[in-house]
Amino acid sequence: MKTKYAVIFICIVALVIIEKEIKIISRVSDKMNKHQSPQQTPQTPQEESNMTQNDLLLSKWPAGTHTNFSAEQEELDDVNMYSYNGGRKHVLLMATTRTGSSFVGEFFNQHGENMFYLFEPLWHVERMLATAAEANNGTGLGWIYRDVLQALFLCDFSALEKFIVPPPNNHVTTALFRRESSLSLCEESICAPVNKDVFERYHCKTRRCGPLNLTLASQSCSSKQHHAIKTVRVRQLDTLQPLVQDPRLDVRVIQLVRDPRAILASRMVAFSSQYQTWKAWAQGGQVPEDDEEVKKLKGNCDHVRVSVEMGLSQPDWLKGRYMLVRYEDIALYPMEKAEEMYKFAGIPFSSQAREWILRNTQTTERASGIYSTQKNSSQQAEKWRYSIPFTLAQVVQKVCGPTMKLFGYKFVDDERTLLNKSISLLEDKSFY
Ligand SMILES: *[C@@H]1O[C@H](CO)[C@@H](O)[C@H](O)[C@H]1NC(C)=O
Ligand SMILES: *[C@@H]1O[C@H](CO)[C@@H](O)[C@H](O)[C@H]1NC(C)=O
Ligand SMILES: *[C@@H]1O[C@H](CO)[C@@H](O)[C@H](O)[C@H]1NC(C)=O
Ligand SMILES: *[C@@H]1O[C@H](CO)[C@@H](O)[C@H](O)[C@H]1NC(C)=O
Ligand SMILES: *[C@@H]1O[C@H](CO)[C@@H](O)[C@H](O)[C@H]1NC(C)=O
Repeated sequence: MKTKYAVIFICIVALVIIEKEIKIISRVSDKMNKHQSPQQTPQTPQEESNMTQNDLLLSKWPAGTHTNFSAEQEELDDVNMYSYNGGRKHVLLMATTRTGSSFVGEFFNQHGENMFYLFEPLWHVERMLATAAEANNGTGLGWIYRDVLQALFLCDFSALEKFIVPPPNNHVTTALFRRESSLSLCEESICAPVNKDVFERYHCKTRRCGPLNLTLASQSCSSKQHHAIKTVRVRQLDTLQPLVQDPRLDVRVIQLVRDPRAILASRMVAFSSQYQTWKAWAQGGQVPEDDEEVKKLKGNCDHVRVSVEMGLSQPDWLKGRYMLVRYEDIALYPMEKAEEMYKFAGIPFSSQAREWILRNTQTTERASGIYSTQKNSSQQAEKWRYSIPFTLAQVVQKVCGPTMKLFGYKFVDDERTLLNKSISLLEDKSFY
């Protein structure tokens, strides 16, 4: 009789625990499915609930503590309280396209074997949700990005897997965006042998690797001391609040910005076909201020400014966890800035990272592609001044004025100034 009750009791306890854990895991998928537009086939939520070590470790945190635990948070802000995750740091490098984020991401990617670095994992999410995002005016889906980032910081790839096309087979994929940009995804321990009979499109620079086994990637991630993710897809800092407050993580957000005139010049080259209107304007003629393209530019500038204003205002949830960095400062003083970023992140600056920066900021090697990070950085940062016509610079100054002022980018009143190398367009400004 006694054993019967004991068995029943154990079953009930087990059920309660399982239910709780499934809730945590399915929260992401539920929300996604709810928000997906009807023509997108929701992916089956039942098969991806493979729990990583982290999930198990974490189930002691009751669901729902992600938000509203300010009293607890006060204590957690004490760095010493993070001992339960072994001092693991989570760096989110947040930027927009053409701000030099690939280059700055390398500062962390090159840290060495203690770092697990992911390059633009949200690319998959953005691609699948493009239509839904447009309907939401580009900002309404921030929480999906956040939930995927949160899972990835916990070494759980299941949320991301739902967005990879074609869907991974048994958690193995050949389609991870720019796998080769992450040293950790090309390590020997997760490099599957190449099947010689099959054309393998995805391999790594340092070694040829077969398809990526995400289970192995997750295990490798769990074994690394620190985690870093670079993304150009998070638009609003405030959507990150639950991520930053997650007691399982020790998140530092580094927001990278750049002169909007330089960004426009760079985008006109890199995304040439999408910038036909701007290129036509560059050939001469009036730029109609109410044009959709101009509004889009203004929208982009405003989004970044709003995020930076929030970051600099240091709300409680972000205190000590936000750093603003200008690309131009990094280009001028790469080593000093890298050191600062590492210090802010609470991660020791490694000799590998240092050597990489030395090698990649002093060479005169020609850029080998639009995503190339091998550039003479200080030269590169100023190049836009000779490629953008003054009239377009003026348009940017007009619609992005408040953003430029906040970040410390000087306006130019004539073409001579724009083209005069000895005049810096950068105000000395520190953001602490
Ligand atoms: C979960 O992943 C582990 C490897 O970490 C694997 O051995 C196991 O079979 C998986 N379990 C399920 C339920 O998929
Ligand atoms: C992926 O790696 C895991 C962990 O080693 C292993 O159990 C699994 O069989 C691998 N998957 C495939 C399809 O090889
Ligand atoms: C979309 O975003 C733009 C710029 O951020 C804003 O001006 C506009 O009102 C928004 N439209 C809707 C329908 O929310
Ligand atoms: C990099 O560019 C800067 C600015 O043009 C120049 O002064 C410097 O000599 C270049 N460095 C190297 C190593 O070529
Ligand atoms: C460039 O600016 C410097 C400093 O203001 C000035 O002395 C110089 O004459 C300018 N050069 C040209 C070509 O305008």
